Amino acid sequence: MTATPPYRAAVIGCGYIGSRVEELAPGNVASHAGAYKAATGTELVGVFDADAERAQAAAAHWGTTAFPSLEALLGEAKPQIVSICSPTEFHAAQAEACLKDEAVVAVLAEKPLAVSITEAKSLAALARSLAKPLAVNYSRRFDPGHQQVAREIRDGKLGRIQHVSGWYTKGIRHNGSHMLDLLSWFFGGVASAEVTAVHHWNDQSDDPGIDADIEYSSQGDETGARARIFGCDAAAHNIFELFILGEAGRMRLSEGGHRIERQLVGDDRHNPGYRALGPVEIIQTVMKDSALNAVEDLVAVLAGQRDAPASNAKNACIALELADRLASQAIDLTRPAKAVP
Ligand SMILES: NC(=O)c1ccc[n+]([C@@H]2O[C@H](COP(=O)([O-])OP(=O)(O)OC[C@H]3O[C@@H](n4cnc5c(N)ncnc54)[C@H](O)[C@@H]3O)[C@@H](O)[C@H]2O)c1
Repeated sequence: MTATPPYRAAVIGCGYIGSRVEELAPGNVASHAGAYKAATGTELVGVFDADAERAQAAAAHWGTTAFPSLEALLGEAKPQIVSICSPTEFHAAQAEACLKDEAVVAVLAEKPLAVSITEAKSLAALARSLAKPLAVNYSRRFDPGHQQVAREIRDGKLGRIQHVSGWYTKGIRHNGSHMLDLLSWFFGGVASAEVTAVHHWNDQSDDPGIDADIEYSSQGDETGARARIFGCDAAAHNIFELFILGEAGRMRLSEGGHRIERQLVGDDRHNPGYRALGPVEIIQTVMKDSALNAVEDLVAVLAGQRDAPASNAKNACIALELADRLASQAIDLTRPAKAVP
């Protein structure tokens, strides 16, 4: 089957991110099913969910067909792009089955890519060996506003980075991995990472909120950017926020990435003779259509307009590996002290 648009697309897992975001946030193209319906380069040819009622409801809502199994979906609908939106423990096996299917030319997996870094790396290797793009929905990488931030930091618009602070909720592997991915994108490889505190908030028993100090290796020969991240309590409220303070300016990414402010250093308006952060300028984001951004990016890759998805198995493995490394340090930190004989 030749792969030309519109690509036949399917969704596995018809829960929140697979099919239902729009119910909660109308006017937002943020579910995978919604994105395949909205994108000009795709058509939604089927869905599968382990819960047959969910699959039927999604199929009725999006005007497509529900299939009773992954095998039936692949065998009968013959999708060319498949989104993996099931719970994380199923990502690896389902993504592998899709990648190995002859008709499938690309997979868009939800994050985290897999439960373990070993599984994630073997998926990345499989996708590479089959030359099939494996996109991973670290949604900010697909957003033009965040892409502008990455460019401006790399081009030195903020000058040498003095300090970065980040706040996230829902555990280091869950939303924390979004933060780790963002930091690696902006500041390069990790030179060192040290856990400073562990929080076992009630909502994330198997994925602690971890505070950590991370040093990055960007900025040439100079010391890399230093970031301090804080794992916060989602039961109180959600937060995903980043402050980036450079010698020439500051950026604040707030409201989960929907708002990005930049302040450049200039003459201090209030204290003549001093330099200070100037007025707030807004960098526009389109985070509200995050799944649509991801699907359009993948379609551009398949059309040969880009080499690889803006977020792919490579950066997803880096984020997951660091999350695992921090989680293993956190276990050491929380291990009860041995009784003194
Ligand atoms: N990129 C993001 O910002 C983002 C946001 C939310 C969720 N996620 C990720 O998406 C995934 C799903 O999260 P969610 O919030 O949509 O969960 P959810 O519980 O709302 O939906 C999961 C769906 O998968 C179905 N399911 C369960 N086992 C299955 C199986 N073996 N095969 C097929 N379907 C199965 C469930 O019935 C349910 O409908 C998780 O990996 C999560 O980390 C990512």
